[in-house]
Amino acid sequence: MADQNEKWMLLGASKGLGLAFHEVLKKHRPLDIVTTMSRQAGGFDFSKESRWPEYVQEILKFQPTRLVYFAAGGPYGHFEKFEWKDHEWSLRVSFLFPAFLIHSALRGRSTSPQNWKNLQQMVFIGSSIAESQPDPGAAAYCASKHALRALIETIHLEQANTASPAALTSDVPGNSAKIQIKLFSPGYMNTGLLPQGSWPREQGIAVDPHLEALKLYDEVFTD
Ligand SMILES: NC(=O)c1ccc[n+]([C@@H]2O[C@H](COP(=O)([O-])OP(=O)(O)OC[C@H]3O[C@@H](n4cnc5c(N)ncnc54)[C@H](OP(=O)(O)O)[C@@H]3O)[C@@H](O)[C@H]2O)c1
Repeated sequence: MADQNEKWMLLGASKGLGLAFHEVLKKHRPLDIVTTMSRQAGGFDFSKESRWPEYVQEILKFQPTRLVYFAAGGPYGHFEKFEWKDHEWSLRVSFLFPAFLIHSALRGRSTSPQNWKNLQQMVFIGSSIAESQPDPGAAAYCASKHALRALIETIHLEQANTASPAALTSDVPGNSAKIQIKLFSPGYMNTGLLPQGSWPREQGIAVDPHLEALKLYDEVFTD
């Protein structure tokens, strides 16, 4: 699988980890085709729920073999300090749109397999900290990362058809297991997402995103 030429769809790769990963691909896989979508790359704003079906059509037009979703974010400060719309933005970009993408792909693979036949893998970015621990100052972001991890781990069990009552496994439509769904969970990185004055920056534990991009590169080709 790793030796064929791939078509990569990178969602949210105009900076930070996504940009670093794009640079790794250019260096190590110069024959692969890569396209990106984000606000700066094509005017794709993943917080706009009414446009999600249009974004899925863009993905289908390109027919990627691998899709990596990097976008996330949210306000930084106590939960009550911000308006609800700010938290909603975070939940949409960091969790709900990724969940919509996974659902579109898995359901699409079973209901209109021709449209989804090329997609082999979808990778989503978690957080080694925020997906499993509280993250004071980033409640909506942290809740989104917990939810993303819960969703993907549950889908893994559903795809394996284990730990599910027979009633749940008997009516699985088609073979959705062919799309591999991965969660890659980096530690703190020096990117625009990490607020100035946050403790990982202050304590100097945030790493260059290129280091995590190389780990991600290994991870996508690991079964
Ligand atoms: N930095 C860390 O310490 C850290 C730690 C653990 C996990 N992570 C995770 O790593 C991933 C990448 O984060 P990063 O640190 O590289 O962040 P970043 O530098 O802020 O980059 C975020 C990317 O997401 C895109 N994006 C943000 N909002 C968007 C929207 N509404 N619609 C479309 N695209 C949007 C941005 O592109 P545009 O501006 O062009 O839209 C940008 O390319 C995230 O999932 C993050 O949660 C980061």
